[in-house]
Amino acid sequence: MRIAVIPGDGIGPEVVNEALPLLGWAREQGRELEWEILPHGADLFLSTGEALPDSDYLRIRDTFDAILFGAVGDPRIPDHRHAEAILLRLRQGLQLRVNFRPCRPMLEAHLPLKGVRPEDVWIEVFRENTEGPYCLQGERTEDRAVDLAIHTREAVEGLLGAAFSRAKVRDCRITLAHKANVLKYGHGLWMDVFGALRSAFPTVRAEALHGDALLCALVQNPTSFGVIAADNYLGDLISDLLAAFQGGMGVAPSASWAPHHPYRCAALFEPVHGSAPGLAATGTANPTGMILSTGLMFRYFGWESEAERLERAVAHALGAGEATPDLGGTLGTAAMGQAVRSRLG
Ligand code: NAD
Ligand code: IPM
Ligand code: MN
Repeated sequence: MRIAVIPGDGIGPEVVNEALPLLGWAREQGRELEWEILPHGADLFLSTGEALPDSDYLRIRDTFDAILFGAVGDPRIPDHRHAEAILLRLRQGLQLRVNFRPCRPMLEAHLPLKGVRPEDVWIEVFRENTEGPYCLQGERTEDRAVDLAIHTREAVEGLLGAAFSRAKVRDCRITLAHKANVLKYGHGLWMDVFGALRSAFPTVRAEALHGDALLCALVQNPTSFGVIAADNYLGDLISDLLAAFQGGMGVAPSASWAPHHPYRCAALFEPVHGSAPGLAATGTANPTGMILSTGLMFRYFGWESEAERLERAVAHALGAGEATPDLGGTLGTAAMGQAVRSRLG
C-alpha cells in the first residue's frame, strides 16, 4: 500500500507525527506499505500561490492507495481558499462520496450524558462528502447572498447504499437525517432514494427524521441509534455532536471512500477536528482522532488485527488516564502517542 501523508496546518502536523510510527509498526507486523510526506498546506500556498497543483493532485490520484490527512485551515488565509483547493478537491475529485464517522465512546468519563454506558452507544454517521452546499457555487452582492446546494442521484445512491449495507451487516437501525420539510428539492431527492433503498433492504429497520428532531433524540436516547445517514451539511454538524460523546473534538476519527473506486487512490483518513490554530505549538493537541483514523485505514486495507490492536491500545491508554488536557490528563501530544504505542504489544 502506498500512502500519501498530508500533515497540513496548525495541529495537523503535530497529530500526524503520532500516526507515522504506527505505519512503521504495521510494517514490522509484516504489512507491505510505504509512505511519502507531502507539503500541501498554508505555508506552501502562501509561498507559491498554489495549494495543490494539478500535477500533484493527479499523482496522488494515480499512484497512491490512500491519504492520511492531518488538518487544513490557517488564520492567514481567512477565505479558506487553500483548504478548498486541497481538502475539498481531494474529496470531490476522487469522488469520496462516503464519509464514515463512527462514535464508540471508550470511557464513561468521556460521555457527557447522565446514565448512559459507553458500551451501549455505537453510532456510525454516513455523511455524503462531495455535494450539498460544499459545491461552493453561489453569489454575493452587498445585500443578497446565495449558496447553491447540489444533490445528485449518483452521490445520494452511493452514500445511502453504503449506509444501508452497513446497517444490514450490523443488524441495526438506520436513520436518515433530513429537512425535506424545507429543502423540498434537494432533500426530496434524498427521501425518494431512501424510500427505494428501504424497499431493497426490507429487513433493515429504517426511518427518516427531521435533522433538528434527530439532534434532540440523539442526546436524549443515544443508545437507540445505529447508522445515521445525512447529507454533507447535516452530517458535518451531527458528527461534531457525536465527537462530544467520545470526549471531544480531539478523539473522533473519520474515513472517506469512493463507493465505485474510480481511481487507484480511493480513500482518505482524517480526524474529524480541524487545525485548531489556538492549540498549535502548545504541544497539547490530542492525537487520538488521528491515531484512530489510522486504525480505520488499516481496517480499510483489510488489516483487521492491526486495527483492533491499535483500538485496544488507545482504550487502554485512555483507561489508565494517560491522555492530553482536553480529556483531563496531563500528557502532551507526543507522550500520549507514546502511551498508545507502548500498549501495542
Ligand atoms: P477545530 O476542530 O480546529 O477546533 C475546535 C475546538 O476543538 C477548539 O477549541 C480546539 O481547541 C478543539 N480541538 C480540536 N482538535 C483538537 C485536538 N486534537 N485536541 C484537543 N482539542 C482539539 O475547529 P475550528 O476551530 O472550527 O476550525 C479551525 C480551522 O480548522 C478552520 O480553519 C477550519 O476551517 C479548519 N477545519 C479543518 C478541518 C479539516 O481539515 N478536516 C476540519 C474542521 C475544521
Ligand atoms: C470537516 C471540516 C470540513 C467540512 C471543513 C474544513 C471544510 O469541518 O472535515 O468536518 O466541513 O467538511
Ligand atoms: Mn466538520
